[in-house]
Order: sequence, then structure tokens, then C-alpha cells
Amino acid sequence: DAGKGEYDHYMLKEIHNQPTSLANTIEGRVEDGDVAFEALPPGSFDGIESVQFVACGTSYHAAMYGSQLVREAGIRADVLRASEYESTTGPVDETTLTIAVTQSGETADTLDALRTAADRGARTLAVTNVVGSTAAREADDAVYIRAGPEVGVAATKTYSSQAVTLALLSQRIAGDVPDATPADDRAAMLEALADLPEHVETVLESTHAETLAQDTLDSESFFFIGSGLGRSVALEGALKFKEITYEHAEGFAAGELKHGPLALVTEETPLFAVYTSGDDEKTKTNAIEAKSRGAPIVAVGPTDHPLVDVADAHLSVPETHPVWAGLLANVQLQLLSYHAAKQLERPIDKPRNLAKSVTVE
Ligand code: AGP
Repeated sequence: DAGKGEYDHYMLKEIHNQPTSLANTIEGRVEDGDVAFEALPPGSFDGIESVQFVACGTSYHAAMYGSQLVREAGIRADVLRASEYESTTGPVDETTLTIAVTQSGETADTLDALRTAADRGARTLAVTNVVGSTAAREADDAVYIRAGPEVGVAATKTYSSQAVTLALLSQRIAGDVPDATPADDRAAMLEALADLPEHVETVLESTHAETLAQDTLDSESFFFIGSGLGRSVALEGALKFKEITYEHAEGFAAGELKHGPLALVTEETPLFAVYTSGDDEKTKTNAIEAKSRGAPIVAVGPTDHPLVDVADAHLSVPETHPVWAGLLANVQLQLLSYHAAKQLERPIDKPRNLAKSVTVE
């Protein structure tokens, strides 16, 4: 317990550690407008034509984030649930880079997928928090997210460090793939990253997630929607919420709401709409659909967005490059889950039936 310091729970301590853990993740990896990983010098990805990410749970959501950025760089990329690797992977050979994203480096499903990919000839890379973990030892290469130890079963700071590491990795890979098209605004994106730790601090200081948790707690279900990078944040928001509150929560791609889940929407189902940029029309129109069925809408993202005008509440984040805005929205959702679970008196750091590292398939 001494390790919790001034905080009631490790989870809250780890949420508040993010300005520091993110600064560690970034340190030395952006130089002169370029991305550098000590373990992966230029040329490391020569011959790679496609990338596949394998991961579970929160790490899968970080992998979704990373895979979108690899695709945006013009490289074919898939994100696969490690537990379903056998049935979902396409052809794999020496032109495939399989990236195992795993905080612990010990998740059995992820290790199994990594080994299967290696057996089929893929080049493998582990993105992990734990130096010397099984994933780091078994993969051809390893990159560390440098988040520091995470005690709470609910992954928080490791998620944000994974997403940042993968975003940087997307640019590093694009540097080696001949037909890749690194983002036009790559310089602006990398420059904005330097401000991310400070922006997280701003969210931590200004959030009203605790009041919002109190106001919405007496609800039937909690829905989270988003599109693009916002979709992975919405899925992560729902996972975190159900994991520690034991309340029913689901995350959807914004556009999928009208293909079924909308039938569940009532005034008893608050909807958290995550967006990362002002041109996210899909999230706005689908949130309005839910609002017209009585659902309270909470906009989660920067202030400069039309959704803020139609929402009942707003969890705001500082203006930044759209690639980083989702990670700030995620901090708001981490705090929402934490305060909801606290008000429900749940055992936040050790939710029932769950383990920090799942070493069985
Ligand atoms: C998330 O809060 C959970 N702890 C869980 O989903 C976790 O992310 C998953 O089990 C994967 O763990 P890993 O990153 O250690 O592989």
C-alpha cells in the first residue's frame, strides 16, 4: 500500500503518472523532425510489405490505434485478436512484420500468435513494457514502451505509452518501405507530441469526470462511440468502464450504432461520443440519432467541434494534432471509469475474476 503514495488506488496513481511516463516513452525518439529507435536503425524494415498487429484487451485497442497510422502511411496493416490469430490471419511470409503488442510480454494468447507467425516465416517485433519478458526474448526485435511498472489490473499508463510508441513506429517503418507515404503533416504531428505530457496534465487538473460519473451512474448501460482513431478510444473506454465498475458498457464504431445497438438506446443509456478532429461528421450524426431517442450525450474531445453544441455534457481536451487528441480523450475516460468504480465501492485495483497478466489460453 505504501507504493500508492498520496493516492487511494494504484489505478489513480498510474493515471496521474502519465505526464511522466509519456515523457519517458518519447525521450530521445524524436530527433530533428525524425523518428529514431535505438534498436531499429534505418533499414531494419527493408523488405517488409505488410504489417500485422496481434494483441489482447487494452493492448489490442492500442494496436488498433497504431495500425490505422501504418495504413495511413500507405502500408497494408491488419490488427488481429491474438486469441483468434489462426482463423483470422491471411498469408504470412518473410515480407510480413508481425508486431506483438503486450504490456506484460507474458500473455499466452499473444505469445501463441507470435510463435505461429514466426513459424510461418514472418519477421517479429515485440512492443512491451517489461524488459526481458518472454515476448521480448522470443521476437526478432523488441521495443520498450517505458511506462514504468503498472500495478493496477486495469491498464492505463501502459495504453497511452503503447499508442505513442506505435504511432512513432508507424513513421519509422514508413521510412524503410519504398512505396510508403509518410503523413504530409508528419513534422507538425511530431512537434505536437512534445506537448502531450503537458496536455495530459491539463486534463488531470481540469477534468470534471468525477461529477459526471456521479450524475450518470444511475443508468442502465453506458455506450461509447467513435470513428477512426476515436473508435479505438471508444472501445477502450467501454472495456475500462465494465472492467472496474461491473456496469454494462459497450463500445461501437459510430456508424454501426444504427445497425443494431440503437435499439438499446433510451434515456437510461448515456452515450460518450469520442472524436479526434473537427471533421468527424459520423460521430456527430450518430450521436444526434441517439440524442433524439433520449440518450444523454457526452462529447469527449477538443472544444472546437460541432458535437459540443448538441451534447448534454463535455469532457474537454486541449487542442492538439488529431493523432494525439484521442489519447487525451482516453485520459478523461480513464478518470470517468475510476470515479464511477470508486462511487460504487468496487475493488478498483483488483477487479473480480481478472488477472494482471493472463498466462493461460
Ligand atoms: C486491460 O485493462 C486489461 N488488463 C487487459 O485487457 C490487458 O490489456 C490484456 O490482458 C493484455 O495484457 P498484455 O498487454 O499484458 O498482453
